[in-house]
Amino acid sequence: MSQVHVSTHPLVRHKLTLLRDERTEPKKFRELIRELAILLAYEATMDLAVEEVSVKTPMGIARGHTLKEKIGLIPILRAGLGMVEGVWEMLPQAEVWHIGLYRDERTLRPVEYYNKLPVSPTVDVCLILDPMLATGGSAVATVNILKKWGASRIKFVGIIAAPEGVEALSSAHPDVPIHVAAIDDHLNEIGYIVPGLGDAGDRQFGTG
Ligand code: PRP
Ligand code: URA
Repeated sequence: MSQVHVSTHPLVRHKLTLLRDERTEPKKFRELIRELAILLAYEATMDLAVEEVSVKTPMGIARGHTLKEKIGLIPILRAGLGMVEGVWEMLPQAEVWHIGLYRDERTLRPVEYYNKLPVSPTVDVCLILDPMLATGGSAVATVNILKKWGASRIKFVGIIAAPEGVEALSSAHPDVPIHVAAIDDHLNEIGYIVPGLGDAGDRQFGTG
């Protein structure tokens, strides 16, 4: 079983509640996705490796640390896009590699439509960004793509998961830690998380 981390941070719980509310308009929804992504990525990056360095302050020499590993942000289009900007501000040196997948409405299986990864991996740690882990099909497919690319350390950073999605991702890829704000009750018959928040892509982009 993967390590599954459900944030208990009060700010995460507060913002998640606003995000779920059907009265939350797209502008506010996008702000909340951005803020939650920062908070969840903060927790997901607790174990990044650092190396010791010294810097000269106006008063003397201070021992400090810099990040040792190269980070890749991997948003799953479309809904993962809203999680990039805030996390990128915290990790400005990160590379961003988009993966385009959509769920076939009938089969609920992911269909790949965009992938411009170069031949060899260019980063040490990949953070997959996607607010929703429903059946888990999209996340499993993305980890498959990244592993085929040669990525060695991969983490999933989402906002709401269904138990079915957590089970699917952790069975297929037990080495991939899962960081989310909540694990909800169940998936409905059309693959939506209940109570969830509805369609994360439509609510961000005003297309619902
Ligand atoms: C949503 C969501 C995930 C996927 C999760 O994307 O952003 O990528 O569904 O479902 P799964 O765990 O069952 O695969 P969607 O296919 O609706 O595409 P969109 O983001 O372009 O709207
Ligand atoms: N994708 C979403 O946007 N919402 C869900 O509840 C499930 C998949």
